[in-house]
Amino acid sequence: MKIFLDTANFEEIKEVATWGILDGVTTNPTLLSKEKEDYKTLLKKICEVVDGPISAEVVSLDPDGMVREASELVKIGKNIVIKVPISTEGLKAMRMLSDKGIKTNCTLVFSPIQALLAAKAGASFVSPFVGRLDDASHIGMEIVGQIVTIFQNYDISTEVLVASIRNPLHVVDAALMGADIATMPFKVLQQLVKHPLTDVGIKNFLADWEKVRKG
Ligand code: E4P
Repeated sequence: MKIFLDTANFEEIKEVATWGILDGVTTNPTLLSKEKEDYKTLLKKICEVVDGPISAEVVSLDPDGMVREASELVKIGKNIVIKVPISTEGLKAMRMLSDKGIKTNCTLVFSPIQALLAAKAGASFVSPFVGRLDDASHIGMEIVGQIVTIFQNYDISTEVLVASIRNPLHVVDAALMGADIATMPFKVLQQLVKHPLTDVGIKNFLADWEKVRKG
């Protein structure tokens, strides 16, 4: 399963890029609004340090506007992927972008059928938002399993990108279900690395080795 960072914070991205495990980055207007830098400059810097898809979202509500924005965004870097919210206008835009050879990530997906429609419109990625579903008292991961099954049933190559991840269990479930990608905040990625038994193990090994050194 590929691991993406869900952030627009350059320091976090630069740090994780050195871990040898980072496959891509997802941003959205909210994440970009938290950063001080101009969004185009920031996206360009991200494209330069991460060798993988970098999602940048359009904010127009009409297909022509979405395509216009996308045409500007793709100039920022060759790995930019255009995030388009699911809607009839979004479907039209994804079809137009796909026909132009521009990759899209269909965002704000909350049902398996929305995912199927996005795939049919040519989306390269679909992003089910699991945490937001959990917040609304639905089991977010259920739709991930359904999307994976549907895509397998019809041999659909669109990648399932699990988004709105809030904790390590979401990541474990995504991997067990066969999702292609999990995108997560820096904090969740840090939690994935840690285990209290690893910390205790290292502490004990070092203490024992100290005894050997002292003879
Ligand atoms: C993914 O592409 C989205 O940017 C993100 O996962 C949304 O997460 P949130 O529900 O925590 O805002």
